[in-house]
Amino acid sequence: MEGRDLVRSVRAVGSAGAAQGVRTVRAAWRRWRADAKGLPSRGAERARVPGPVRGVEPGPGGGIVRFTRSDLRITVAVNGAVFWGWDGAAPEPSYALAGRCPEPDPRAVLEPDKDGGWRVVAERVTVTVSRHGAVEVCTPGGVPLRRALPPRWWEPVGGGGAARWTQRSEVAADARFFGLGGRASGPRLRDGTYRLWNTDPGRPFGPGDDPLYVTMPVELVVADAGTHLVFHDSSWDGSVTLREGAEGAGSGHDRAGTVELRMDGGPLRCWVVVGTPARVLQVWAALTGAAALPPAWALGHHHARWGFGSEQEVRRIVTGYHEHGLPLDAVHLDIDHYDEHRVFTVDHDRFPKLPVLAEELRRDGIRLVSIVDPAVKAERGNTVYDSGTAEDVFVRDAAGRVVRGVAWPGETVFPDFTDARVRRWWGGLYEERLAHGFAGFWHDVNEPTSFTAFGETTLPRSARHALDGRGGDHREAHNVYALCMARAGYEGLRGLVPEERPFVFSRSGWAGMQRYGGTWSGDVATGWPGLRASLSLVLGLGLCGVPYSGPDVGGFDGSPSPELYLRWFQLGAYLPLFRTHAGLRAGRREPWEFGPEVLEHARAALVERRRLLPFFMTLAHLARRTGAPYVRPVWWGAPEDRALRDCEDAFLLGDGLLVAPVLTPGTERRAVRIPRGRWHDTATGRVYEGPARVLVDAPASRIPVLARAGAVIPVRGADGGLELEVWAPARGRTGGGLVVPDAGDGWDEPEIERYGVRWEGRRVVVERERETGAGVPPYPVRIRGLEER
Ligand code: NOJ
Repeated sequence: MEGRDLVRSVRAVGSAGAAQGVRTVRAAWRRWRADAKGLPSRGAERARVPGPVRGVEPGPGGGIVRFTRSDLRITVAVNGAVFWGWDGAAPEPSYALAGRCPEPDPRAVLEPDKDGGWRVVAERVTVTVSRHGAVEVCTPGGVPLRRALPPRWWEPVGGGGAARWTQRSEVAADARFFGLGGRASGPRLRDGTYRLWNTDPGRPFGPGDDPLYVTMPVELVVADAGTHLVFHDSSWDGSVTLREGAEGAGSGHDRAGTVELRMDGGPLRCWVVVGTPARVLQVWAALTGAAALPPAWALGHHHARWGFGSEQEVRRIVTGYHEHGLPLDAVHLDIDHYDEHRVFTVDHDRFPKLPVLAEELRRDGIRLVSIVDPAVKAERGNTVYDSGTAEDVFVRDAAGRVVRGVAWPGETVFPDFTDARVRRWWGGLYEERLAHGFAGFWHDVNEPTSFTAFGETTLPRSARHALDGRGGDHREAHNVYALCMARAGYEGLRGLVPEERPFVFSRSGWAGMQRYGGTWSGDVATGWPGLRASLSLVLGLGLCGVPYSGPDVGGFDGSPSPELYLRWFQLGAYLPLFRTHAGLRAGRREPWEFGPEVLEHARAALVERRRLLPFFMTLAHLARRTGAPYVRPVWWGAPEDRALRDCEDAFLLGDGLLVAPVLTPGTERRAVRIPRGRWHDTATGRVYEGPARVLVDAPASRIPVLARAGAVIPVRGADGGLELEVWAPARGRTGGGLVVPDAGDGWDEPEIERYGVRWEGRRVVVERERETGAGVPPYPVRIRGLEER
């Protein structure tokens, strides 16, 4: 950015500062008053537990177990997923589920168990219900994975209002917890309380900050006996307190791990899926929906910045990329390109010919991405506000007044995305963006955030929402607000440009958000802890079914040292969303701003990312079809390996690559824990045998990447065509891999190609495996790792 532009942008925010301060005080009072009047007061409450069992009513896949003071519905679905709901809770309606609920398993029957309890035996799982309402989920071999103790409700005396509830569960002493959405301190979630309320931390965050923008009541629990995923389908505010267990070192006195869930309301209902990590995520994706497939360009490199300030500055950055021989696929425009920060507008003084710029960039293979904020400036003459007012789309308070908050443009109102009618209206607004030439959309501040002088930075809890016909308030709608906004954007774009895959990624979201796109780290703090948090977030989100995400490379604030910037860049190059971004007052983030050495190494990372594009595209297809995230913890294929389970500083990219980023300064070599089998260091050619902890070179020029022996990695050849890079299996062993050729955009369903790799005498042979027999691959094949070093 020109110095002049920076000064102007800072001034714009600064001069708005005083007035904005007053607005936030007013808004805080308004919110306080709205809640004081509009929320039911928490008077006397009465506690309730289910009480003893009274009888059962068998039904498809299980049935209803009746207790004195509640009923429990249990269903095992054909895919082995277990549903249970108390107080008559059913799977629907749900914001997480994607349409139709899976059919009940007709072979799963409710039968009497010991001590007056009941059980449902199915092929993949056994569920027992004790006579006081404890629910235990066991492997088909009968080993318990989770025991949910009878829940407890607190209900307002005299009825009315939501019942709070808690449920405590026990898991194996050796179990490890993952998930709960995007958490900066993971991926292994240590003992502590994690809140379930999507939150803008209000400043750049690090590993100690919780909660963040995407929370979800989804836990993945990995233990020797098996892996299970639990989803408590309630969008209300709540918390999860995790405590890992401890083993009694053979004394037989193990202490179970515990999970204590406390929710302010909502149905007490739960899904549990048991199996390997791959199976669990597959069933989860079947329940909550296939991940949206990004267009190929979205798997390239993106450069963003808050405060590009002008078309000239965008051109200057793009020219810099070209002149330095750096591949670039997308440029993102932040709120500074809006006219006075108003969503769906353009500042024509500084961006006079946006469609021309977009067209020029597109000719160079670079797409423009637009930020989209949900808050609409409340001002007559603002077209979006006027049209929204005419259509009655904005959230109202309990007294029927439109709720006013504060965001970048000043006083704002918020569309109620939990209303299908409002989603349709909002989806239509993307037409304006498309006319400017934007190809992708970056949903921001949609927790939703409303700036405030005190109290919560969001809408009043009493604010009313349609909740798709059911009606309710912000306590229930808050966590699904961004999910519904993503739906509005995604569906709008499908209608407006039916031939293209929408590219939407959103700062906030909830279970199921992958149906509409991905997410990103939000404002991760510049610093080595922020770098580590970036990886935790991506891994944790992947295990909650959101496979596409990535950090602000370099961190959101301040100025990273050249070393930190480079290590972040190198990690980013192996994450699904590879985007450099920073805040208004942050230092530069262009690779050439950090000296010739960083430039050279960043170029290598970019070139490698481009080479790996067909692999990323394959991973995107596999994520969509199988639920497996691109970026997986190293224990993915071997959850029983306890040392791997605790490894948080490396990850698998698909099945084939193991990436070991450098997360500490001054590193030239680093230890890597490798799973079973043979691994090739893709740079040095050295071969390692796992399981082991090995020391590998990590010079400034690259981060260690190991390839699994036998892996087939689709890459882009020198002529731009697809090639297969095949890593030699160990002698006498075989290998293989999947490739999904992709047209780059559109809706064709390419076939998943299967390749087999084996030794034939002294040669490694690669064959395409089809039902009709094996054949020669239709692409050039390059065998690597033949000379063992
Ligand atoms: C907050 C977002 O997290 C950040 O990425 C963006 O630059 C700012 N909002 C300004 O739009």
